[in-house]
Amino acid sequence: MPKKTIQDVDVTGKRVFVRVDYNVPQDESGNITDDARIRETLPTLRYLLERNAKVVLAAHLGRPKGKRDEKYTLQPVAARLQELLGQPVQFLNDCIGDEVQAAREQQPAGTVILLENLRFHAGEEENDAAFARALATATEVYVNDAFGAAHRAHASTAGIVPFVRERGGAAVAGLLMAKEIEVLGNLLTQPARPFVVILGGAKVGDKIGVIRNLIDKADTLLIGGAMAYPILKAMGKPNMDKSILDPKDVAQAASLLPILQAHNNWRLPTDALLTDRDAEDAHTEFRSVDNFPPDLFAMDIGPQTIQAYTDVLRDAKTVFWNGPMGRFETKPFAYGTRAIAAALAESDATTVIGGGDSAAAIHQMGFADAMSHISTGGGASLEFLEGKELPGVAVLEER
Ligand code: 3PG
Repeated sequence: MPKKTIQDVDVTGKRVFVRVDYNVPQDESGNITDDARIRETLPTLRYLLERNAKVVLAAHLGRPKGKRDEKYTLQPVAARLQELLGQPVQFLNDCIGDEVQAAREQQPAGTVILLENLRFHAGEEENDAAFARALATATEVYVNDAFGAAHRAHASTAGIVPFVRERGGAAVAGLLMAKEIEVLGNLLTQPARPFVVILGGAKVGDKIGVIRNLIDKADTLLIGGAMAYPILKAMGKPNMDKSILDPKDVAQAASLLPILQAHNNWRLPTDALLTDRDAEDAHTEFRSVDNFPPDLFAMDIGPQTIQAYTDVLRDAKTVFWNGPMGRFETKPFAYGTRAIAAALAESDATTVIGGGDSAAAIHQMGFADAMSHISTGGGASLEFLEGKELPGVAVLEER
């Protein structure tokens, strides 16, 4: 771990500002449907509280576009955190301002404050200096534990740090951030071999950088999910149009071809499950990718592909997986994603799951405990694996 963590600085009794990623999914009534991002911060919080720190947590939820919007309040998160932590969490209904400052100045040792959604202020995403300075109020140690938001150069993830330093404060990683950097970093530098990378999901454009950076490092790259069909079309396979979610994906896929053509360690689906409707009772049939009927569209990988991919996974010693193999949310199209998840669960390889939809699928299918690491970062884990330095990591002190 190249960066200092909370274990490298004195936090005892200190005023510690912790940026966390509590951008959790909620149902229509605002109930949290997956609290993994909250639970994953508990080791950092417990470490700080055991040392009597005055912990101030800051987070964003959704994209409220710089304005207060009750739909995106962090109040339900405060309630869940309080349950998980087993001690009171004081929720403040803003993140800056006189009342917040007063509450922070009066905060007793060994307690937790959660600030309201940072993105209720435009200054957060604009990385506004005055907003960042206001957040830094009374901070003695700045901790970034929000790996999932570390690819954003926002006030709370980057802009705040010079103001904390101006006050003589340190800027270090939390324990979750450290774990993410270590596990994902090992994939780039020292994966046990064979190292297999599985990429799926919808947006081929989001995966080009990762493919570029990982194709030489991986022993095998398995491609599935909706991103496969624009690539197959770019390679000249007929009747892919109905399976392509966005026509722009074809141009993106075409730009990927030279990278693929320069290597021979990758696979695309050879067959798929096709349908005419996204519904539980829809008509389905398996077809080779050479033989798609023009009126049907692909929703999952087929049995031949599943067999070939699980054969590769059987020998793997390290696996990174980002993106489902099909539309797993609808039962008849979940088979491919489930088969890959089950293969990873059975494997004794180090299995690392990128955040977002693949993490949701793993949780939903009950395989979470069988994985070595499920990243809390979706976009952040992809950018990290592209080899980019994330702004929220770059600002932290070197060890
Ligand atoms: C995420 O959910 O990936 C992070 O919290 C970042 O959210 P954003 O994409 O809205 O910046």
